[in-house]
Order: sequence, then structure tokens, then C-alpha cells
Amino acid sequence: MARTTTMLLLVAAALLAASCSAWEAVAYVDSLKLAGNGKEVWVFDIDETTLSNLPYYAKHGFGCRALGLVTAHPLGLQSRSHTMFLRATPFNATSFNAYVREGSAPALPETKRLYNKLRSVGIKPVFLTGRTEDQRAITVTNLRRQGISGWMNLLLKQPGFKGSAVTYKSGERQKLQDAGYVIVGNIGDQWSDILGAPEGARTFKLPDPMYYIG
Ligand SMILES: *[C@@H]1O[C@H](CO)[C@@H](O)[C@H](O)[C@H]1NC(C)=O
Repeated sequence: MARTTTMLLLVAAALLAASCSAWEAVAYVDSLKLAGNGKEVWVFDIDETTLSNLPYYAKHGFGCRALGLVTAHPLGLQSRSHTMFLRATPFNATSFNAYVREGSAPALPETKRLYNKLRSVGIKPVFLTGRTEDQRAITVTNLRRQGISGWMNLLLKQPGFKGSAVTYKSGERQKLQDAGYVIVGNIGDQWSDILGAPEGARTFKLPDPMYYIG
């Protein structure tokens, strides 16, 4: 119970911080002098940026498992001290992909707000995700169910790609730039979403209390 409460507090704090980053991004959009030539794009990551997989992690112990609670009674002290031992559970691709196939992940409301804002000023959204090409149809379904549509591109990882997340994502951004697009913003929850040239004119990092992709 204590473990769940602590994790929920961490997650709540992260969600609040995520709202702040997306809020900041909206303010940044307001400050832009746009060319309005249809070449301005904004790169969005999907998981834990546009869609939240919290319902999955909530069901799977937030990526940790309790090993035991040790209660100490230090001599001469009234209070007892509790130490919870946690161990990270390895990522389970089978159960996570089954969750993805449900297409039920909720949108992060502040990111959706940013998305709509960008569309209203003529900046084209581009999704760039570590999800794989075979997950295209369910990803489109999930985004639409959440009221998200009208993106310019949905870029998924192609079968056989062996490089790192940074190599993959920066490579796709380079292709956008080579095609004449200007990346005015780039938002993601992983450093690998936003590091690696070309990063975009401005990057926004959302917190992710759940996992790290190098
Ligand atoms: C991963 O999840 C699947 C499906 O829920 C389950 O059958 C399997 O035992 C899990 N694997 C591990 C290593 O926990």
C-alpha cells in the first residue's frame, strides 16, 4: 500500500511537471514569428508524450516489485523506521505490446492542447515514435479515439533497423530537414527523443518516472 501511494505521488508529480513543459511549449508557440509557408513542423514522440501508458504501468506495479519491508526499532527512539526494498521488474514486451494492441491509451491533455494549438497556427505535427511499422494501424486508431488527427506524418521504426533510438530519431529529423521542413519544436519524454542533430529549433523534455530509453 505504501509503495503504491509513493509511486502514485511520483507519477502525479511527473504528470504535473509534464503539464508545465507542454504549457511552456504553448507560450513558445505564441512567441514565434511564423513564416506560414506550410514548411513548419513540430515533432512529437508518442508514448508518455502524446499518449500515456500509465494504465499499463499501474497494472504492472510501476516497473517495480516489493521484496520486503524492514522495520527497525532503534534503541532509545520512540519512532520506528521502515525501509522498503524494491527491485525493478524487467520490461515485458509481450504484455506491453498486448496493451498497445488494445489502442486504449489516454492522451496527455496538455500535449493534446499543444497539438491543437500548433494546428490552429499552421504548424504541421509529425509523430516520430519508437513504435514499429506493424503497430501503425492500432496507433492511428488509438490517436483518433483520443481526438487526435490531422498530422502530416506518422514515422514508425522500420523492420530491421538496428541503430540506437538517438540514431533513428535524429536520422528521421534530418530527412525532414533535407525535404525542406523547418522543425520549430520537438517534444518527448526521453533524452533520446530530443538529442542528436538536428534537434529542432527548441526542444521540450517531459519527465518519465517509468522508464529510460538510451
Ligand atoms: C510477460 O507477459 C506475458 C503475458 O502477460 C506472460 O505470459 C509472461 O510470463 C511474462 N514474462 C515474464 C518474464 O514475466
